[in-house]
Amino acid sequence: MADASGMAPPVISLVIPTYNERENIELAIKHAFEVLREGAQPFEVIVVDDDSPDRTWEAAEVLCDDYPGLRVVHRRNERGLARAVVRGWQEARGEILAVMDGDLQHPSETLGRLVKAVQNDGVDIAVASRHVVGGGVSRWNIIRRAVSWSATLMATWLLPGTIRTIRDPMSGYFALRRSVIEGCRLEPEGYKILLEVLGRGRYRCVEEIPYTFVERKRGGSKLGPRQYGEFIVHLLRLSWRTGELNRFLKFSAVGGSGLFVNMGMLTLLASAGLGYLQSGIFAVETAIVTNFLLNEFWSFSDLSKRRPGVVSRLSRFLTFNLFCVGGAVINLAVLWVLTEVAGIHYLLSNLFGIGAATFWNYGMNANITWESIRAAQKKTHPLD
Ligand code: GDD
Ligand code: MN
Repeated sequence: MADASGMAPPVISLVIPTYNERENIELAIKHAFEVLREGAQPFEVIVVDDDSPDRTWEAAEVLCDDYPGLRVVHRRNERGLARAVVRGWQEARGEILAVMDGDLQHPSETLGRLVKAVQNDGVDIAVASRHVVGGGVSRWNIIRRAVSWSATLMATWLLPGTIRTIRDPMSGYFALRRSVIEGCRLEPEGYKILLEVLGRGRYRCVEEIPYTFVERKRGGSKLGPRQYGEFIVHLLRLSWRTGELNRFLKFSAVGGSGLFVNMGMLTLLASAGLGYLQSGIFAVETAIVTNFLLNEFWSFSDLSKRRPGVVSRLSRFLTFNLFCVGGAVINLAVLWVLTEVAGIHYLLSNLFGIGAATFWNYGMNANITWESIRAAQKKTHPLD
């Protein structure tokens, strides 16, 4: 069926977000068109530019005559990579939606594989990934690696259920079926559109396809302190909306209750005549047991009820116990370092120690102890 312009309506819609990419945009469009033409499916390419000072939108508009199927959205009053992509998808008509950077750092060859995975292989979201075999980054210094790694770590802590299906949740290069986000309210902050899709979308099968993130040749990255701030806000908002923040708060409350169990047990045993160190060991173990029970039947009840067998519960308890011992070691190490080395009052140091241990305990147990329940159903939606 042909539309008013005489062309078949697009099946594939590729969005290219741009901000000050005047020097890159022409080549990026050329490469995208080459790959999409090979696919022999009707497609459109939508450049979404946020009123770039270098007038990227203008440079893109000039190309529309040469590239039928190219459209340019010029956003005048908004800034932000992730929302620009959402805007592009709102304009899109295809059944398959994709996104690729406009600075040539995402090699266009991979685009064909992403689209094919969604179109032919029953994949709902196909993600170009640096962190699967065959993928990588070219010449990243230690600082960039550290920043990228800490961002992923933070997401792993705050969104354990959301990003569990994927190794490179920071990727900005992927394709998805329209139905994944149809009817969903996407309200990302900052850069990471994929996090929003994984947290809010409806999908079963996610696949990662390796690619190498190549160096920028022209122009500069727009990632700066402001975007780091937006990233944290985005993580918190998303973890709130997916219910993961709530789970973390429950877990922390359980931890708080453990403090009382510990103190109560210690008082009881010591006053019954047991030495205070032996009493302390029993007190810690009792608190670990009550904490486990509260987490198993409250914080993580939605997961644990899927594997209610005694053996499963026992194995979760052993794992939990092991991580908690690790947490205790972290607690003591922080207490020692802050008190001895930094000269902070030991009670305050201990508070930091408890904080560090809580993060450790939650991160490890959420991602491993209770996550193991979902691992069997690996590529399904985190929250279904
Ligand atoms: N419309 C719009 N508005 N586009 C933007 C904005 C904005 O506020 N900020 C950045 N862009 C565009 C850039 O012009 C570029 O085409 C693309 O988004 C990526 O921006 P960069 O600033 O080049 O990002 P990067 O190279 O540091 O980071 C990229 O690397 C990640 C690797 O995993 C991002 O593309 C991520 O999406 C990617 O996953
Ligand atoms: Mn870039």
